[in-house]
Amino acid sequence: MSERYTQAYDVYKQKIEQAMRNMIPERPETFQNGHVPALLAEAMRYSLLAGGKRIRPVLLLATVEMLGGSAEEALRMAAALEMIHTYSLIHDDLPGMDDDDLRRGRPTNHKVYGVGQAILAGDGLLNMAYEWMTDNALRYPDHAVRHLRAIHEIAVRAGVTGMIAGQCIDLVSENMEPDFERLRYIDWHKTADLLTAPLLAAGYLCGADDEQMKALETFGQNIGIAFQIDDDLLDIEGDAALLGKATGMDAKMGKMTWPSMAGVEEARKESKELWDRAREALSLFGEDAWFLREFADSLSRRKY
Ligand code: IPE
Ligand code: IPE
Ligand code: MG
Ligand code: MG
Ligand code: MG
Repeated sequence: MSERYTQAYDVYKQKIEQAMRNMIPERPETFQNGHVPALLAEAMRYSLLAGGKRIRPVLLLATVEMLGGSAEEALRMAAALEMIHTYSLIHDDLPGMDDDDLRRGRPTNHKVYGVGQAILAGDGLLNMAYEWMTDNALRYPDHAVRHLRAIHEIAVRAGVTGMIAGQCIDLVSENMEPDFERLRYIDWHKTADLLTAPLLAAGYLCGADDEQMKALETFGQNIGIAFQIDDDLLDIEGDAALLGKATGMDAKMGKMTWPSMAGVEEARKESKELWDRAREALSLFGEDAWFLREFADSLSRRKY
């Protein structure tokens, strides 16, 4: 990766971390109206501020800048995207879902706070994301409709035809007969939708044209499915200490994944093809897409 890329990534990441810290202040009050109960705030911060690659918010900020928009104006939306993603992880780890004990290098939320509080911490992050995104839209009245379109896109991609739909079919497909159509649906929705959301949200915020929106969607969908195949490969071949989560869980749960159905070699081939297709979609943006190009290069080689 170029120095320019790693520096830009770090700057985006720091801004996002700072924004998220400010969004859920530590509040000692327990029963004060208008304040988040201390326990709830603590459980939300525990998972949100535990590290993580922050790829979804970074994608939003980088794409906004690529399209000539203001990263400052998109910052709260970026942090909100990470809240939605973190909620999805807290719930994904629950005993009734993937039943995981380790996440982002720490015991999972329900291991520390109990299942009930972990559900609420997830609910809290999800709701707070929309509080902040709508509040942010009101700060930019001249762009309110652009913000509304972006927020709507995020709601749809995170919602019952998007990420939640993917999680639903992921769960009911455990220990089922291999089915590639089903697998494609799972990977597309549980993962690719939440990676496409920041790209399209950036497009809406910046008033991108139809051709640009199409290219952003193609990029997001391809990196998203490739990202999930790589996650499934890392579950087999990765290092749990680096990943910050247990490996071998997919086989244990009988998950329908590319490597489980087609083998590791085929899964690698499929992932590579998707990463290549994603890079092709960027040609429309020429040099301006330098960050997204390096982002795809770096993510396609990730070890965690
Ligand atoms: C993990 O997402 C869940 C998947 C969609 C595979 P990330 O790999 O982005 O997790 P963090 O945010 O870096 O912890
Ligand atoms: C998760 O997929 C996708 C989500 C919507 C959270 P996985 O269940 O494979 O993610 P990990 O491996 O637990 O991070
Ligand atoms: Mg899962
Ligand atoms: Mg999981
Ligand atoms: Mg996984």
